[in-house]
Amino acid sequence: MKVFVILPAAGIGTRMAAAQPKQFLALAGLPILIHSLRAFAAVPRVSSIYVAVRQQEIPRVQAQIAEFLPLEFQSGHSQSESAHRLIHVVSGGDTRQDSVANALAALPAAPEDIVLVHDAVRPLIDAATIDRTIDAVMEHGAAIVGLPAIDTVKQVERTAHGALISSTIPREYVVLAQTPQGFRCDLLRRAFAEAAADGFLGTDEASIVERAGQPVAVVHGSAANLKITQPGDLALAEFYLAQRS
Ligand code: C5P
Repeated sequence: MKVFVILPAAGIGTRMAAAQPKQFLALAGLPILIHSLRAFAAVPRVSSIYVAVRQQEIPRVQAQIAEFLPLEFQSGHSQSESAHRLIHVVSGGDTRQDSVANALAALPAAPEDIVLVHDAVRPLIDAATIDRTIDAVMEHGAAIVGLPAIDTVKQVERTAHGALISSTIPREYVVLAQTPQGFRCDLLRRAFAEAAADGFLGTDEASIVERAGQPVAVVHGSAANLKITQPGDLALAEFYLAQRS
């Protein structure tokens, strides 16, 4: 059984109001995407990694991989051609789901192999959480990293006068979905095919797999595994990174 990783990194990142997509912004001197790649490259059970980026970004990302990743992961390195632990750069799509689908189509994975999908913009994922996710997928077939809700959670209706609360959701029934999200490859492929046939667009892979009728387990996440989305998140990520070292 092999473990493949897909990093969707083809977003434009409009909420960040930055000059370039957030996955390329510098965090402690390195592009955010490189931090995410290094985290998975450091896990021995990971076989290979597929990054989905915008077509025009492919040369830039290949150059960054050559500069910042261990030689064994670089396809240009002569000794690594026969190695399986390689990073592949593929073209993303207009939605996150399209980007993941493109990478999934490129994976040389067997039905029983495991596919982990991770937001490229969550650079602080740690090896222990990745390992626990792989273990949970081996046990349940599908598992995601999730964070229990700390705040009280309200369901709202959007009205012309703003949001109005319609109910309170007991927070013991709520987890906030993070990534990685991992699945047996055959299950993920079937769920993606069903979603495409039905025109369903999900904001994460679990929602696509849930609707295919498969139970998805939850592995405990951490607040440090934040998704860099808006101004201020970079400073918070720098803080968590400094705490680590
Ligand atoms: O859009 P959101 O902030 O949820 O993005 C989560 C991840 O999905 C990011 O790493 C982003 O680059 C990626 N993405 C993608 N293709 C898109 C849109 C988002 O790979 N079309």
